Amino acid sequence: MVPKILVVDDDRYTRTLIEQMMRKTAEVHLAEDGAAARKLFAAVDFNLVLMDQRLPGDNGLELLREFRARRPNLVAILITGFADVRDAVAAVREGLFDYLTKPFEDLEALEAVIGKALELDRAYREIDSLRNRLATEGAPDVVGQSAAMERLLGQIRQVAGLDTTVLLEGESGTGKDLIAKLIHAWSTRSAKPYLEVNCGGLPESLLESLLFGYEKGAFTGASQANPGYFEKAHGGNLFLDEIADMSPKLQSSLLRVLQDHSFARIGSTQPRTTDFRLICATNRPLADEVKAGRFREDLYYRINVVAVRLPPLRERDGDIIRLAAHFLDHYNTKFGKECGPFTPAAVRALEACRWQGNVRELQHCIERVVALQPGGAIDAIHLSPTTDLRPDDGHPDSPAPAQALAYPDARAEFEREYLRRLLEAAGGNVSEAARLSGIPRQNLYVRMKRWGFVTD
Ligand SMILES: Nc1ncnc2c1ncn2[C@@H]1O[C@H](COP(=O)(O)OP(=O)(O)OP(=O)(O)O)[C@@H](O)[C@H]1O
Ligand SMILES: [Mg+2]
Repeated sequence: MVPKILVVDDDRYTRTLIEQMMRKTAEVHLAEDGAAARKLFAAVDFNLVLMDQRLPGDNGLELLREFRARRPNLVAILITGFADVRDAVAAVREGLFDYLTKPFEDLEALEAVIGKALELDRAYREIDSLRNRLATEGAPDVVGQSAAMERLLGQIRQVAGLDTTVLLEGESGTGKDLIAKLIHAWSTRSAKPYLEVNCGGLPESLLESLLFGYEKGAFTGASQANPGYFEKAHGGNLFLDEIADMSPKLQSSLLRVLQDHSFARIGSTQPRTTDFRLICATNRPLADEVKAGRFREDLYYRINVVAVRLPPLRERDGDIIRLAAHFLDHYNTKFGKECGPFTPAAVRALEACRWQGNVRELQHCIERVVALQPGGAIDAIHLSPTTDLRPDDGHPDSPAPAQALAYPDARAEFEREYLRRLLEAAGGNVSEAARLSGIPRQNLYVRMKRWGFVTD
């Protein structure tokens, strides 16, 4: 691509000289004052700006600062008279590429400096595009090829690049956090911060100070000023999870921030502007919360610009097995095991389950199986004892343990073997075993003791 150069100089001789020198290799645009330069700069993505320091009615250095505020990686050269060289040297320290002194004596040197500046611009652009690519590569793994997921991902691809507020609605465990991260990764803000906060998990005052930040002494314990997420998310994306749990007071504060794009830290009246894109999530339909009078209607309209519904796992044809295989792979690597494949009975059991807890429940199920299994094929029997795997419609051929033992003995034998493997998988740590199995720690401890796996 032919590089675009902007030459801003009120001296016609200088403009013409540079144009003639560069027009074979570059598209040269000329401006004789600040106004013309601003207009061109707004319209064209220049690879290089050559700016005269003294312009009629404008200071060239100031004008460059203005341009660089809009495009921090702008490569620019200041053209200056001998008298102004000190300013120019200071400007180079600010990040300007170089300066040239008029009158130009060595035209070859002039051409070389311009060539180097264009090289630098090329490098900046390559890094930028690499960063964009990496950001997409850094996007979370989202597994799903069912029609419902294809539809969802298509929608996300469309909205990610826009700056609109997105509201993610879906049952617990459907992947709202994951999709919020994906929106960030696919957005034009991906190189900027991504901050998330769970509005349901914090008391009102804590959530308020987390979002708004505070000044020193704003309240007891505020020993130093602290910026909030509204500030930290500047330029990037802010994810407010469980938005329906936000208190009425904070709902109205948030509404004001969204309306004004400005806010004040707690303990201060000084307004601060901020620019973040908001992503919200809720597992209770927000419209119902509005109807019930628990959520402000005006705020609802503010954040319900683009609403995206995450389908429950039971509506994603074929994805249960894809996800199970994905998690199997993940946990095999994590625990250094070689479990799998799933037997046909295991596949049937997985597909028949209702998965009330959606993808998260499936993920935990596979995590437990891999943690507990020494390796080898995974059968339905391996899934059922550790998971609440109740088939929707009770498959007739759901396998049962084929052991010639009386039921109480079989159960006791199972428990002993299960607990032994569980403890092994947890590296001997009872709390970790409790977490993996979902059995309360105290209860687990008693059972382990009964079997002699732990001592006081
Ligand atoms: N399509 C998917 N592909 C791979 N992993 C997924 C997918 N969807 C969800 N997960 C995983 O499942 C788990 C639960 O997802 P996530 O936390 O995003 O759900 P959520 O909707 O935010 O749940 P909650 O409403 O409880 O907050 C996470 O570990 C996530 O990585
Ligand atoms: Mg979540």
